[in-house]
Amino acid sequence: MERIRVNLEKSVKDSYEIVIGEDVIDRAGLTTKVKDEIDRSVIVTDSDVNPLYGQRVLERLKETTRPVDIIEIPAGESSKSLETVLGVARRLVGLSASRKSLLIALGGGVVGDVTGFVASIYMRSIPYIQIPTTLLAQVDSSVGGKTGVDLPEGKNLVGTFYQPKAVYIDLSVLKTLSDKDFGNGLAEIIKYSIIANHGLFELLEQENAGIKKRDISLMKTLVGRSCKIKAGIVEMDERESDLRRVLNFGHTLGHALEAASDYGLSHGEAVAIGMVGAAMISRKLNHLDKDSFARIVGLIKSYGLPTTIRAGMETAQITSFMATDKKAVGGQLHFVLTKAIGVPFVTPEVPSGVVVEVIEELKR
Ligand SMILES: NC(=O)c1ccc[n+]([C@@H]2O[C@H](COP(=O)([O-])OP(=O)(O)OC[C@H]3O[C@@H](n4cnc5c(N)ncnc54)[C@H](O)[C@@H]3O)[C@@H](O)[C@H]2O)c1
Ligand SMILES: [Zn+2]
Repeated sequence: MERIRVNLEKSVKDSYEIVIGEDVIDRAGLTTKVKDEIDRSVIVTDSDVNPLYGQRVLERLKETTRPVDIIEIPAGESSKSLETVLGVARRLVGLSASRKSLLIALGGGVVGDVTGFVASIYMRSIPYIQIPTTLLAQVDSSVGGKTGVDLPEGKNLVGTFYQPKAVYIDLSVLKTLSDKDFGNGLAEIIKYSIIANHGLFELLEQENAGIKKRDISLMKTLVGRSCKIKAGIVEMDERESDLRRVLNFGHTLGHALEAASDYGLSHGEAVAIGMVGAAMISRKLNHLDKDSFARIVGLIKSYGLPTTIRAGMETAQITSFMATDKKAVGGQLHFVLTKAIGVPFVTPEVPSGVVVEVIEELKR
């Protein structure tokens, strides 16, 4: 079992631990960090995860805290809404949850974002822990303290920064994950390997077969290193200013492709193509050498992720989605480029002609 400490300098009491291992959810004492202070726990999970793991986590929690209840929300992004938040909050009132109650987010990024948001506003905030069950949630959404929901106008438009008391990552739950959801997490892991490396890039190159089989010990290394990289960046930049922007590698174009495909492309697929695009721009502007470029594209391909844009997507539509990305700063679109594997940088200076050229090349 590996433990990674996330140190938040400015607010020491916000620091927490990420525990990573096999069968972590079967260990009693999931809530040891907070158990003395809490009067009840409420698991929030979704309709896909509840039948798989809900009861198991409930039984474990009963060993240390009681009472324990489960609130189930429908699986899927459409649950990331203010209606769900209100529904969960009202259920909590019905269960007599108080400021001393603990929420447990058991599920993927949707459950994590909704539960974290409810925890940050219910009775002006109550503690929560995360048990992320998708690969994406394990390496990305459960680290960093961003919570929130979508509005009809766009994704993640309402939310808070609110850190959990602890994150418990159980690698054995990955075996029930769909290939599509596994790919979504892999795309983010590949992203970390390009922006920070830490031996991750070579590991992904060398252990392709084992990783695709979701070998537990390889997954432990991958998830551990990814969490360390994200935690390291978040520690330096908790509120998302310049530094944290490198985490957006592949996402400027990726988000636009996701939207332009009307979400027919999954997040991981769109980010995979976006990373190829960012590497192409880096290459065109003479930042990245030919070999590193070929290794980046080769790695993405070797995990079955797409590296080209399929026919039918309009370049003008893609660039217009890029222009409306909420991460554009002062009207200026910032790109995360790379000088080498592990050496990213953020720049507002990518000529729009180069972006268009790259989108056209990605269609071939
Ligand atoms: N807060 C952040 O910093 C942050 C970062 C990245 C993404 N996100 C958000 O995360 C969300 C996407 O998260 P996601 O990809 O985990 O999607 P998700 O939560 O919708 O999970 C995907 C599907 O997998 C199912 N599932 C979860 N765990 C499973 C398991 N172990 N076995 C079988 N099925 C399982 C879920 O029920 C769901 O149907 C988006 O809303 C995105 O905005 C947030
Ligand atoms: Zn992402």
